[in-house]
Amino acid sequence: MNTREIISAAKYLASIKPAFLLSELCSSLPDDVPPHEVCRALAPHLGALDLTATKTGGDYEIRRKIKTAPYILSGQEKDRIDSFLAARRIPPSLERAVEQYITKKVQKPWDDPVILERLRRAIVAQKAEYWKAAAKKRSLAYTKGYTVLSYLAYHFPVYFMQTEYLMRTLASAGLLRQSMAIVDIGTGPGVVPLAIAGFYSHLDTATATLHTIERSEEHIEALLFLAASFCGDIPRVVIRPPVKADIRDLPDAALPDRIDLLVFSNVLNELDDFTTDQRADLVMKLAERLSPDGSILIVEPAEKENTIRLRSLSRALAGRGLTVHSPCAFLWGTRCDPSRCWSFKTQADIRPTRLMERLAACDEPFRYINIDIKYAYVILRRDTTVQHPYHIPPRSKYSRLSKLHLHLNRRINIIAAKMSQELGDKKTHVFKLCDGTAAKPVYGVLPAYHITPSNEVLIPARYGDIMELHNVLVRYNKAHDAYNLLINRNTRIHPAYQKEGDTEDY
Ligand SMILES: C[S@@+](CC[C@H](N)C(=O)[O-])C[C@H]1O[C@@H](n2cnc3c(N)ncnc32)[C@H](O)[C@@H]1O
Repeated sequence: MNTREIISAAKYLASIKPAFLLSELCSSLPDDVPPHEVCRALAPHLGALDLTATKTGGDYEIRRKIKTAPYILSGQEKDRIDSFLAARRIPPSLERAVEQYITKKVQKPWDDPVILERLRRAIVAQKAEYWKAAAKKRSLAYTKGYTVLSYLAYHFPVYFMQTEYLMRTLASAGLLRQSMAIVDIGTGPGVVPLAIAGFYSHLDTATATLHTIERSEEHIEALLFLAASFCGDIPRVVIRPPVKADIRDLPDAALPDRIDLLVFSNVLNELDDFTTDQRADLVMKLAERLSPDGSILIVEPAEKENTIRLRSLSRALAGRGLTVHSPCAFLWGTRCDPSRCWSFKTQADIRPTRLMERLAACDEPFRYINIDIKYAYVILRRDTTVQHPYHIPPRSKYSRLSKLHLHLNRRINIIAAKMSQELGDKKTHVFKLCDGTAAKPVYGVLPAYHITPSNEVLIPARYGDIMELHNVLVRYNKAHDAYNLLINRNTRIHPAYQKEGDTEDY
């Protein structure tokens, strides 16, 4: 008896009735397989089959999961989240918890000059290691105490706030549910679970159970301390004890049977020995437990090489059957060429923490202040939900961006998503544009003196918004091997379609 037969028997029973017993499933199988073996074989697939299992006496009741509606934020919840984000700082209680943790670990006050100097050295060393070219072997083991303390001092605040923005993005896209099982892979000191707990503290009724995987003992120790200090008062969020494991070889029991949100935040780029295909295989393996309406969020630092690798990974995952929900839109229904796609999102700078300020009170303050939020991300789905269910109508009079070489120095019409925030300045606005076809980068260029009421909408448009641009002049930029679409006062720009629902900018 193989697992496939067990799965198809379970699928069949679930198609004819809303609930059945495990013993019923066993007796429908041709071979005599002990129930515990059937249970073990079936458990990892329950999420993907949209089934749940509940123990009843000596048996299990297996039930079709009732499709849950999206958790829609109320006006008050939005207000609370927005005012938290507008403050641009991590919760003061968490700041204090980080300071207390440093004090506990080093057995001296966190702001003792000797400790601050050690932290500075650790931050400089960690950055040097982190930004080594991918071709060089990095050593990011996080096995020593100071590697984690420096992570908490330098990276943690920005990644915490970044995760809060991403949760807001998921909420406004309708991808949160009333009750969620969330798995964070490579959780470090718990950036993602702590940020999610912070986010849920603004919600009225939603609940979440957070599962985390991490291989570094030091990170796990930090997570446990911070979660105990910060999350104790946050109701409806449970952070399960972290699982210490290598994500390249996760035991089955490390993951819950059903995952509603699977997060990889700044972790896949650390698998230096893995090719893009191996990373895609790893994501697909873990995604086996994703519920049919579950989401995968992959986030990486916005620097060029990491971003392009993320886009290539997301292309590989689309090739394996996942749907790219956002931020990319494939407007002509084709797959893209991500080999030069450097597209990332930015948010307002955060305020430095008290610890950062103390670290920066030295001759080279810029080395210790990390406040800008820039991230490359992709949201993937097992179903076919996309953020913008919009395709350019066939035979319409718009040029594909892959065909710009045929229109050099001519005026054309295009439809494309705005895939960057401001890359220029007040004199000349520049935005990356993409319709999912171009191999070479394409930029919309709008000089300030050509701004008119008919084209100014491009400037405030959000990351990912799909715009129609009528009458743009195509220029090739040899220095960058890219195309510029010059916008002048005769260019008309407007949104290609209006999305319904929560349309706030996050
Ligand atoms: C840059 S940190 C990211 C932490 C957190 N997710 C965030 O966004 O801040 C990467 C984390 O992934 C963990 N990691 C890297 N490779 C791993 C592996 N093979 N198995 C388990 N954890 C791993 C590291 O120990 C580290 O904690």
